[in-house]
Amino acid sequence: MRFFVSVCLFLILCFAPAWAVTAAAQSHVDKQSFGKTADGKSVDIYTLTNKSGAKVKIITYGARVVSIEVPDANGTLGDVALGYDDIAAYEKDQSYLGPIVGRYGNRIAKGKFTLDGKTYTLATNNNGNHLHGGLKGFDKVVWTGKGSMVAGVPRVTLTYLSKDKEEGYPGNLWVTVTYSWTDRNELKIQYSATADKATVLNLTNHAYFNLAGAGAGDILNHQMRINALRFTPTDDTSIPTGEVRSVKGTPLDFTTATPIGARIEDKYEQLISGSGYDHNFVLNKPAGTFGLAAEVFEAGSGRVLRVLTTEPGVQFYSGNFLSGATGKRGQTYPRRSGFCLETQHYPDSPNEPKFPTTVLRPGGRYTQTTIYQFSTRKA
Ligand code: GLA
Repeated sequence: MRFFVSVCLFLILCFAPAWAVTAAAQSHVDKQSFGKTADGKSVDIYTLTNKSGAKVKIITYGARVVSIEVPDANGTLGDVALGYDDIAAYEKDQSYLGPIVGRYGNRIAKGKFTLDGKTYTLATNNNGNHLHGGLKGFDKVVWTGKGSMVAGVPRVTLTYLSKDKEEGYPGNLWVTVTYSWTDRNELKIQYSATADKATVLNLTNHAYFNLAGAGAGDILNHQMRINALRFTPTDDTSIPTGEVRSVKGTPLDFTTATPIGARIEDKYEQLISGSGYDHNFVLNKPAGTFGLAAEVFEAGSGRVLRVLTTEPGVQFYSGNFLSGATGKRGQTYPRRSGFCLETQHYPDSPNEPKFPTTVLRPGGRYTQTTIYQFSTRKA
């Protein structure tokens, strides 16, 4: 008997560390409390960890990506997404750090649109226009979260019911967003929505990236390539004029990799009125197909971000209005210390019949898939 017990103990001691290591190397999803909003709503944080230990954290307030820890070319993990340390700071956020924006991401001119003969009036919260869903958009509400593992991939599914007339939009809208984090360091975002009245919607994610590490200075040396031959020029309040212009010969030509800062101060009217890059690029791929939107490379870290999407456009925003807010770990985020690649339909589509439609009708389903894929390469 004593011999049997000793053998058992020996076996446990031999194999337990191996089991522990295997368990630690498994992908997993964890949920913790992220505190409460000022009006007492509980907010959770989900951590999605993949086999290599790379992690993405998402909170239920605004369905926001709060951090993305991925390796540099030496294998050292670093956080490449701008964010804050606590819920109070997220509630004060003016820059849309990491959320799902909606019901309509980007702008609707003068906060008005007409659908099936009826005119709807929305909040005008940006130079007389409607921006990112209004005064309390999807970035400022608490979503319902649920973590799960599907085929070994950790994910969190977030749902939100936007009620009829919320922020002036027609119809109840049921929205589901799923973030998955694969072993290939891909953050996959799947969107789905249905409505009980005709409405407009344009969902996107508004994460700011700095591939050198959040808080590590400006993003002007990042090399940007955008898969777009054309863009939609805007007036001086960032509303598309209706023109679809070739990027050729302009500082918006990113068909070959170019540092973001190389031409950002050019005296080109679109850059002057946008205070830098803040434009919708028309993706060079057939409508509705999944394909490349952009690729960004940061030589110091060797990190590469590729963005793939089913959407027809991407808003490349060079963080022109960031103005030194204090973010995670006490670091500050000055002007142009992060960039966004917001995969989306074009701004002001409800008022531009020539743009791809953003109307969702009862019985129909809105879907969108976007992948932010992280890797490294040598300069
Ligand atoms: C979007 C807009 C910008 C700015 C940011 C948030 O990307 O296009 O003009 O409003 O959101 O600061």
